[in-house]
Amino acid sequence: MFSALVFTSLSASPLAAGQSKWLGNVIPGSVPANWDTYWNQAASENGCHWGTVQPTSGSFSWGQCDLAYNHCQTKAIPFTYVCLLWGSQEPAWIGGADGKTAFTNLVKAAAGRYKPQFVIVVDEALHAPSSIRNSLGGSGSTGWDWIVTAFEIARSAFGPGTKLLINDYGIVNDSGAVQRYLGIINILKGKSLLDGIGIQCHQFNVNTLAAATITANVNSLGATGLPVYPSELDINGNSEADQAQIYQRVFPALWTNTNIKGITMWGYITGQTWKDGTGIVDAGGRERQAMTWLKGYLDTTKV
Ligand SMILES: *[C@@H]1O[C@H](CO)[C@@H](O)[C@H](O)[C@H]1NC(C)=O
Repeated sequence: MFSALVFTSLSASPLAAGQSKWLGNVIPGSVPANWDTYWNQAASENGCHWGTVQPTSGSFSWGQCDLAYNHCQTKAIPFTYVCLLWGSQEPAWIGGADGKTAFTNLVKAAAGRYKPQFVIVVDEALHAPSSIRNSLGGSGSTGWDWIVTAFEIARSAFGPGTKLLINDYGIVNDSGAVQRYLGIINILKGKSLLDGIGIQCHQFNVNTLAAATITANVNSLGATGLPVYPSELDINGNSEADQAQIYQRVFPALWTNTNIKGITMWGYITGQTWKDGTGIVDAGGRERQAMTWLKGYLDTTKV
């Protein structure tokens, strides 16, 4: 008489339900029908970038960012605003404006509209620094004054209820980059401006990475006492089975690390991801081997 229970999948929905960490994903131009089945934190894929939300100096366009934020509000799950200041996808008009004034207006407008749990204030400082960095103080006495200024503006606008993050790629695979990143992180931490450390984990950074390397680099960041948030996680492989194998090497090293408090993946539907081959659910809803493994793993590994 208990057969229905015995044969029902144990998989919780969303995947990280009941765990101490969230597992999220991006929301692109619309919310995929099966999105809530899997994820319990979100970022807009491109919808909150400065070039998207303020294409001209006098007009804001929040539709895409609203979509992701409102979905999180409806589901009562954390939202990460990605991002305020990044050297890519900046609107052209800021080149002719006073950068600090323009940035302050952007941040005030975003903070007036949203109460996000997390905001990535500066993205890719080591790889794609903002074009307005000199207007924000340039290198200055700390070496990174423009980043300090950006965080001060964000803290003032968003207040203490929003956790401010920094984010970059090429970190989790590179102990030298970890040290350069810590140079910025420790300046912000010393001024109580930073609440967490984002590390992009795209396939080009993690596919060939040993679990021990991930652990060592994450622990170096975690030694600051700040939580670490893998962002933009995606993995592909030579085949569906290969992709699943890489998941089994990389994902547990992140999920079980106590310095890590949540993971955001960067797409999941085959053919609808930034990097080819990183989907783990086909467009028709079939779960690929990596997703089958991930569900089973999260059923049995509780953090
Ligand atoms: C880490 O990845 C970046 C690309 O994101 C690359 O430029 C860098 O050389 C890699 N570092 C190591 C040590 O593999």
